Amino acid sequence: MNVAIIGCGYVGTAVAKCWQQKMTLVVTATTTTLARVSELQTFAQKVFVLQGNDREELEKVVHGQDCVLLSVAPRRGNSYQDTYLQTAETVAQVLKKASVKQLIYTSTCSVYGNQNGNLVDETTPLAPTSESQQVLCDTEQVLLTELKDKLHVCIFRLGGIYGPGRELVKIYSRVAGQTRPGDGSEPSNWIHLDDIVGAIEFARHYHLQGIYNLVDDANLLNREVIDRVCETHNLPKVTWDTSQPSNKNYLAKISNQKIKATGYKLIHPEMIF
Ligand SMILES: NC(=O)c1ccc[n+]([C@@H]2O[C@H](COP(=O)([O-])OP(=O)(O)OC[C@H]3O[C@@H](n4cnc5c(N)ncnc54)[C@H](OP(=O)(O)O)[C@@H]3O)[C@@H](O)[C@H]2O)c1
Repeated sequence: MNVAIIGCGYVGTAVAKCWQQKMTLVVTATTTTLARVSELQTFAQKVFVLQGNDREELEKVVHGQDCVLLSVAPRRGNSYQDTYLQTAETVAQVLKKASVKQLIYTSTCSVYGNQNGNLVDETTPLAPTSESQQVLCDTEQVLLTELKDKLHVCIFRLGGIYGPGRELVKIYSRVAGQTRPGDGSEPSNWIHLDDIVGAIEFARHYHLQGIYNLVDDANLLNREVIDRVCETHNLPKVTWDTSQPSNKNYLAKISNQKIKATGYKLIHPEMIF
């Protein structure tokens, strides 16, 4: 089976390493950065250097593939429009004419926007509150509507990503000892890298299609996560300024029932501090 990973960063690289270990899979990976080619060649049989709006190169990448993972995120200075939407539009165009049977796309829970902290599932109408969130919603729509009659499209809406090299203490050590806006009572939704890789491999294996939230079971509030990180790593506590509005970019508690109902078992249902 031939598998391609368009966007081989933190998530794409971990998936490539998992897929490379399966002797039955031949991995192709893309990067925008010439200097990364030799690194990518250690876990992908073929490497392409391309931008996601480069139709000709993408045609070469998807040719003969069975499954494609799309996992791009903007490099510094690049817009969401260019990175997500233009790439999705180009990928949709080339997949319409290819033999690929499945596309897996890593979206984000931030598409839910402001849901006043309420519990949401994959059927909840999206409520984007920024241009970036709108672009992310449009990106999902392009892939779903353009490709629905052609192949299986599986969209994972990921919570905040953490894992080796992106530990919670690294993410939060900057805020230790500071005063943060709001009261920290927003839901925090996280997913460990192992479960992103696990769920993507599960989706490939069982041909999942549709939208799936991907967050763990921890259900902690933002301040509870920060408190636990500070306690565990002996960092000064964060205080909260309730006179200021929270700066969290989306407000929703995310249900993970749908992915669990497929039979996928979380590797890290609780957070690792
Ligand atoms: N970070 C979070 O907490 C979070 C939360 C929810 C969802 N997500 C989503 O999860 C996905 C994976 O994130 P990640 O952390 O693995 O991202 P990452 O490490 O930043 O990797 C992104 C990859 O996209 C490539 N890329 C950037 N612009 C591109 C373009 N215009 N065309 C083609 N490729 C392009 C990069 O190429 P180079 O190799 O040249 O750098 C890199 O390989 C993203 O879709 C992100 O939006 C992230």
